Amino acid sequence: MSGTGTGLLSARGLHKSFGDLSVLAGIDLEARPGQVLSVLGPSGCGKSTLLRVLAGFEAPTSGEVLLDGVRLSGPSADRGMVAQAGGLFPWLTLRDNLAFGPRASRRTGTQVTAVVDELLSATGLDGFADALPKQLSGGMRQRAAIAQVLANRPPVLLLDEPFGALDAQTRLRMHEWLRALLAERPTTVLLVTHDVEEALLLGDRLCLLSNRPACVVDELPVPFGADRGRAVLADAEFVRLKATVLERVLTA
Ligand SMILES: Nc1ncnc2c1ncn2[C@@H]1O[C@H](COP(=O)(O)OP(=O)(O)OP(=O)(O)O)[C@@H](O)[C@H]1O
Ligand SMILES: [Mg+2]
Repeated sequence: MSGTGTGLLSARGLHKSFGDLSVLAGIDLEARPGQVLSVLGPSGCGKSTLLRVLAGFEAPTSGEVLLDGVRLSGPSADRGMVAQAGGLFPWLTLRDNLAFGPRASRRTGTQVTAVVDELLSATGLDGFADALPKQLSGGMRQRAAIAQVLANRPPVLLLDEPFGALDAQTRLRMHEWLRALLAERPTTVLLVTHDVEEALLLGDRLCLLSNRPACVVDELPVPFGADRGRAVLADAEFVRLKATVLERVLTA
C-alpha cells in the first residue's frame, strides 16, 4: 500500500514494443486521486498492453510509471487490476474469492469477515456468498471480480473493459453501481474501454488513444457531476459530446 500516498498514477513517455511490433508510442497520462480517467481507443490499439504496463505486469520498452511521484517497477498491492476476462478463481466460492487477498495479507479472521461482508452487501451479492463463479450471471461475476480487487483496498484500480461482455441494459446498471461504489471508496480509477458512452458515463476525464501504435491524441474533462445517473444519456450536452468523441475515435 502507498500508506501516506494519495494515489496519483502517472505515465511518462511509455513505449512498448513486442519484437518489431510497436504498440505504445510515447504515452503520457495522469490518473488523479479520487477520479475516474476513461482511456478510450479503437480495438487492438494497445489498451490492454497499456494497462498491463501500468499494473507492472509488463515492463515498458522505455518510459516510466510513477505513483505519487515514486517510480515503480513490477506489480504491487498499490494497483489492483481487473483483467479483460475477469479474475475470479473458478474453484472458490464467492466468499473465498473475496477473502483471498485479505487472507494473503494476513488480516485477522474477524477483519476478513468484515471486509467480505461489506463487499457482498455493496455488490448486492449477499445471497450468493457460497456460490461458485459459474453459478453467477455475467453481471454478478463482473461485480464480484471488481469487489475481489477492492477487498485489498488498493489506492489505484485498473479496469480493462470490465463490462464489455454484458448486454446494454446490464451494462448501464453496472455503471450506476460502480459510480455508487466508488463514491463510498475514493479511489484512483483508470478505466479502459472502447465504448464512448461508457467512457463519458463513468469518467471524470477522458483520454483518447490513436490506432496502434497508441499515443494520446486528445484529453478532455467530462463536464457532468459525480452524481450523474443514466438520465444524463438524454442530456443535450451528453449527446453532442458523445457524437464529437465518437467522430474523434473513428478518425484517431
Ligand atoms: N504479449 C504480447 N506479445 C506480442 N504481441 C502482443 C502481446 N500483447 C499484445 N500484443 C499485440 O499488441 C497489440 C495490442 O494489443 P492489446 O491487447 O493491447 O490491444 P487492445 O487495445 O486491448 O485490444 P482490444 O480492444 O481488442 O481489447 C495487438 O496487435 C496484439 O497482438
Ligand atoms: Mg484489450
